[in-house]
Amino acid sequence: MAEKVRMQSTRRHKPGARACQKAFLLAHMKAAEQAARRAAKVLESWRQRFTVNEKARFDLVTEADVASQKTIQEFLGRRFPGYAFLGEEGEAAKVRPDLAGPPTWIVDPIDGTTNYVHDCPLYCVSIGLWMSGDLVVGVIYDPCRKEMFSGAKGLGAWVNGRRLHTSSADRLDQALLATGFPPDMRGQEITLDWWRFFSLRTRSLRRTGSTALNMAYVAAGRFDGYWAFDNHVWDVAGAAVLVCEAGGTLTNIDGSAYDPFTPDALVSNGPLHPAILKAWRSGPGS
Ligand code: IPD
Ligand code: CA
Ligand code: CA
Repeated sequence: MAEKVRMQSTRRHKPGARACQKAFLLAHMKAAEQAARRAAKVLESWRQRFTVNEKARFDLVTEADVASQKTIQEFLGRRFPGYAFLGEEGEAAKVRPDLAGPPTWIVDPIDGTTNYVHDCPLYCVSIGLWMSGDLVVGVIYDPCRKEMFSGAKGLGAWVNGRRLHTSSADRLDQALLATGFPPDMRGQEITLDWWRFFSLRTRSLRRTGSTALNMAYVAAGRFDGYWAFDNHVWDVAGAAVLVCEAGGTLTNIDGSAYDPFTPDALVSNGPLHPAILKAWRSGPGS
């Protein structure tokens, strides 16, 4: 999250530039919301009739994932021709966009596919906008609860139009934390060690099966923190802006400046971050 959004055409006249930037970001946020609602209709239309395939061991994909991504890509492609697109499904390159390249939509068409497959109502559509080395717009839509989380850099974050604020807990023994596990746990047992560690020191832990919802819930003050070791950029791109705009803190696990293209993430309400980092330094065996 190192670089600032570049709005070259508006730089010279500051008040006007700010208004222009605001309108620019809100227009993209609204378009992403529309795309997410369309994708949610696609998910509904595929329920109970999809087939399940494995991309890798326990890493599920259905026709609904593919159709949802296609809907989002086509809708946003029509609205913003010339923008790049990075989605979880398909063969297109999934690499960090070139700094000088066009804005890039980063999309997870279903975050929580295993839940979707089992008809467990914990999944969502996630859309983020990456511009000049930064995530500037994020939208998460949960079709089961009809909750639209949206945010734009510098402007705020909302759920169904209500402003989001992170919680105030600053001690582990006051905290409800969430985490995510990779589809194939073999070789990832460290994550179970941390599960045990935080289970013994917090009010409770949740594993929802959706990274995007975990992070959106931190933004909403429902969870106080979230950690994971195995994310992809499409898992986090929609929710990162929400967390920042709601007052939360995002870093990598070691406390360094957050890079959404790396797999580990530590997300918190802000006040709890030092306590989690301290735990991290002591190790799960302590
Ligand atoms: C999964 C979810 C889950 C996380 C897994 C992801 P998917 O995404 O975000 O919370 O723990 O690592 O693969 O496959 O449902 O898009
Ligand atoms: Ca995902
Ligand atoms: Ca997915």
